Parts: sequence; C-alpha cells; structure tokens
Amino acid sequence: CGIIGYIGDREAAEILVEGLKRLEYRGYDSAGIVTEQGELFIKKGAGKIDELKEKLRLHEMPGNRGIGHTRWATHGIPNDINAHPHTDCTGKIAVVHNGIIENYLELRSELEKKGHTFKSDTDTEVIAHLIEEALKDSSTFEDALRKALLKLRGSFALGIMYAEDKEHLYFVRNESPLVLGIGNGEMFAASDIPAFLPYTNKVVFLDDGEYAVVSKDAFTVKDLGTGKEKKKEIHEINWTLEMAEKQGYPHFMLKEIHEQPKAVKEAIYGNLETIDQVAKEIAKYEKIFVVAMGTSYHAGIAAKYLFQRLANKPVLVEEASEFRYEFENIVDENSLVIAITQSGETADTLAAIRLAKKKGAKVLSIVNVVGSMATRLSDLVIYTHAGPEIGVAATKTYTTQLTVLTMLAIALAKILNTVDEDYLKKLEAELLELPRYIEAVLGYENKIKSLADELVDRRDFFYIGRGISVATALEGALKLKEISYIHAEGLSAGELKHGPLALIEEGVPVVAIAPSGKTFDKMVSNIQEVNARKGLVISLGDNEELEKVSEVFLKMPKIDELLSPVVYIVPLQLLAYHLAVLRGNDPDKPRNLAKSVTVE
Ligand code: G6P
Repeated sequence: CGIIGYIGDREAAEILVEGLKRLEYRGYDSAGIVTEQGELFIKKGAGKIDELKEKLRLHEMPGNRGIGHTRWATHGIPNDINAHPHTDCTGKIAVVHNGIIENYLELRSELEKKGHTFKSDTDTEVIAHLIEEALKDSSTFEDALRKALLKLRGSFALGIMYAEDKEHLYFVRNESPLVLGIGNGEMFAASDIPAFLPYTNKVVFLDDGEYAVVSKDAFTVKDLGTGKEKKKEIHEINWTLEMAEKQGYPHFMLKEIHEQPKAVKEAIYGNLETIDQVAKEIAKYEKIFVVAMGTSYHAGIAAKYLFQRLANKPVLVEEASEFRYEFENIVDENSLVIAITQSGETADTLAAIRLAKKKGAKVLSIVNVVGSMATRLSDLVIYTHAGPEIGVAATKTYTTQLTVLTMLAIALAKILNTVDEDYLKKLEAELLELPRYIEAVLGYENKIKSLADELVDRRDFFYIGRGISVATALEGALKLKEISYIHAEGLSAGELKHGPLALIEEGVPVVAIAPSGKTFDKMVSNIQEVNARKGLVISLGDNEELEKVSEVFLKMPKIDELLSPVVYIVPLQLLAYHLAVLRGNDPDKPRNLAKSVTVE
C-alpha cells in the first residue's frame, strides 16, 4: 500500500525505513526493503515497521539505492512470504507493487509452463518473472521492462530494481498513485508525498501509463505504450506533513469519498474472474441469511432486494448482534450465511459466523481486510478491494460492498436463469459504468456544500425510499447521525404515514431517494404528503418530474434502480460530511464511535 524509493549518496536503508514510517497512516500489514551493494539484499515480513526494524535490522542493510514497501494484502494473506519485494528466479530483479493485476492467474500459468517457479501467492511476483522472461530477448533492461509491463492488466504502481543496472531505479504508474521527489544529487519516489517530504518538496507527478527511469542526478519519464519521452513539470509543494497524508484533502473521509470511482472499479475488476464460482456454490441454497452491523448491515438490506429481484431467492437480513442470540434453532446445514464486514473483526459479526459454522451452515463473507478473522472463519470469501479506510464513517467500503453484492446477484441470476438475458446484459453494462456515474455525482459537491450551509441548524432529518432505496435512506441517515450529530431517521416511505409524518412540520428536511422504477409514482405521492406539511423536500432521482415537487432536486444519472444505491449514496455522504464540518466536528473521528467494534 505504500512505496518509497531512494537513489543517491546516503545510506538508502535509513531513508527507506523512515519513509515507510511516514506511510504508516495508510494502513498496512507487512513491510519489506530491497537495497543493492553488488547484489540485492532483501528483508521483509509481516508486522509493524518498528518491530521489523528491530527484528530484521532493516536500517543496517547496505547500499545507496533501494526500494521499500508496506503491503496491505489483496491477493494472499499477510505473511512473511507474501510481503514485498518479490523477485524473479535469479533473485536479480526485485519488484514492489500497489494495486491489483487482474490477469495474474493467466500470466502465472503461462510462466509456470515456461519453467518459472513461484514462492508467494501474490499477483506481484508475476511481474518479476515476466521481466526475467522478457530479458531473454531484449537488449536492455528497460526494453524488457516495457515488454513485460505491456502484458499487465489492472491497476499498479511499481518500484523495480535490477542488480546489474546499478545506476537506476524504475517506477511505473497505472491507476495507482506514484510521485517522484527531486533532490540535489539524490532522487526519491513514493506512492505518497509525505514519504520523502523531509528531504524535498520538488515533485513530479507520474500519470497513468507512464514510467520513470531514475538515477541519482536525473530522471526521464516515458510513455509505457510508445516508449517515447514525455516532458514533465516539476511542482513545488508547500504542504505540511499532515496535509500531505490526506493528499491535500482536509479529512480522510473526504479523500475516501472521492476515491470511490477507483475503489468501485477495483471491486469490479478484482472479482470478475472469481464471482461466478462463488455464485455457483451459493445457488444451491434456499435458506439465505445476511448478517452484519452498521453500514455493512445496510449493504445487507440492498443485498436482500438484489437477490430477491434477480434470483428469486428470499433473503433474511439480520443484525449480527440479534442473529447470534435468536437464530440458533433456525440456521442449519441447509443454510447459507452471508456475513458482510469491512474490517472482518466486528465482534457480533464474528459471533454470528461462529454460530452459523457450529450449526453446519455454509458461510460466505464479504470483507475488505484480507486475512482478517472473518476470512479465516468462513468457507468462502469475496474481497471488496476498497483499500484501507481510515475515516471512522464507512464510505468507499460501503459502495464496494454494494458493488460485489450486485455482481453476485447478477451471477446468480445467470446460473438460475431467473431473469431475461437482455436485462442482465444491460445490468452488466451499467455495472461497468458505475465508476463514471460516481465521478459525475461527485461534481455536485459545491451544490451540496451550499445546501449544507442552509441546513446547518436543523435538528431532525428524514430519509425516505422504497425498494432497494430503503438501504440508501438508512445509510444516508446513519452517515448524518454519525458525524454531524444531527438526529436523523431513515425509513421506507410507506411507513411515513404510520407515525413519522406526525413529526413533519415547516422546514423539516426530508431527503427522498427516488430513482425511476416500480415505485416511483408512490414516492411522488409520499413527497406530496411531506409538501402538504410544509416539509423541505430534497429529492434525488433521474426523472425531471421531481423538480416540480421538490425544494432541491439532485438530478442523478439514469441507471437501473437495482444499481442506484452505489451512486445515490455519494451525495448523501457529501451532505453529512459538509454538515459535520460546518458544525465544527471532526468527521474522521466522531465522538463515542470506533472504526471497528471488537467488543460485544
Ligand atoms: C463500526 C463502524 C461502522 C461499521 C460497523 C461495522 O460501527 O463505525 O462504520 O459499519 O462498525 O463494521 P464492519 O467492519 O463489520 O463492517
């Protein structure tokens, strides 16, 4: 998850260890370093930098050039072997990597046929072997590097060094950040500026599809496709260390909200190859339970609608804290229990998984943190590939949960033949467009900020939706409660008349989530009920009719109702965020709440 590289006259190891320490906030489970003095020296392992530094004497590694890495597991559990750097068969090529190589299984089996042997379970190791293979018929290392990299599909930031090419380090960027730090007679590279900020504030941002050849006195940036040199501007930045950690965003939460197009893309492409297999397994079950807490529970509510609509499978969604005490006699060996948990460590969710296992049920967990407890207890695991989330209020882990659950429901529908094929094709096409749609609604940020200005003193908010949008209503309300400390209620719009309507009076904000679909007309009626009590309606939808009946209308991209939660929640995250900031709260650390609740 973090890369740092150094070439110059100083002892590389010390600078690398320090750089890795400054990348710790990004989250990681293992770390490693490669340096060179005649040959490559590599030390790596699972654990925290400080422990590894002592245990492996990292700072004593020899040489004036090297690369360090902190890993946040995506393929393969966090352990010593899977930690980076990874090498080829000769041990002369070392690679560190952030991101996901989508076609690594295919590449790995091709390489195995050519006699390469692999030590780890990672997608990264494939890169070192690909370069080794390409080197056989290339005149220079750089040539081999380009040939190998052109075979990769996916997102990657790479740091690469070759024992025999002593003057250079190589860095590559494709959809995963990488910046060069320009010093005086020394050069740095990192996935994030804080890693080298104490040494230089002159930076060169690599763009997607570019690679850099770096020596201690110079750098060249080239296009990966054509090999042609590109002109790059050197920027001087005047960020403090803290600002740099957040890449210029004032809070991690805002950074993570903006990371969603990329996170959702990784969730899609990181699961394309495997989702059908999981769906095949679960297609056998009639009794399906979903257990989760908090935001993950809301993803569970969306899952219920997805599975029911697309695969005709009734689904029971329960808070794990209830399930663990109430379902002992209900869950059995004919049951499938889907546990949704970002951290994989929530105590109640783990207890629900344990109960399910004890009763002989099959457990599938949907998790963000690779190797976490939930993954170890479960029969099947789908990873959301959102990357580490630091803000306590879940944002990108929620949209990626929704993404993989949608993929699963579509895959199930295909196997079970439950819906029209053309409709499924349309859904699949729209799924791939989700990152673009999220990008589009992020463009509403200024409008939402002004809305927050207007609403900052309101005491109660209501969020209403029908069908799958109930999940969005609940999650929108939760976000607001968590970080702005304003009372908010999310409910199915049908319930409005059965109580909450008594609380609607002049100026009470009611957020109506109303994508086109089965119940759109009913939502318009509910909005009218609110208008009749002079409530302030903020509607989200793709039908312009809403504009006439709402005080504020956010026009959303036209997208199938079943996919809408992934996009519609984004403006509501922004609303909660801006209200929190205006009210003087720290949205990253809401009072009384924890990122991961590991006690009952
Ligand atoms: C805490 C967090 C929430 C999260 C919930 C479940 O309450 O503050 O953001 O949704 O735990 O966490 P999990 O890791 O199981 O998804």
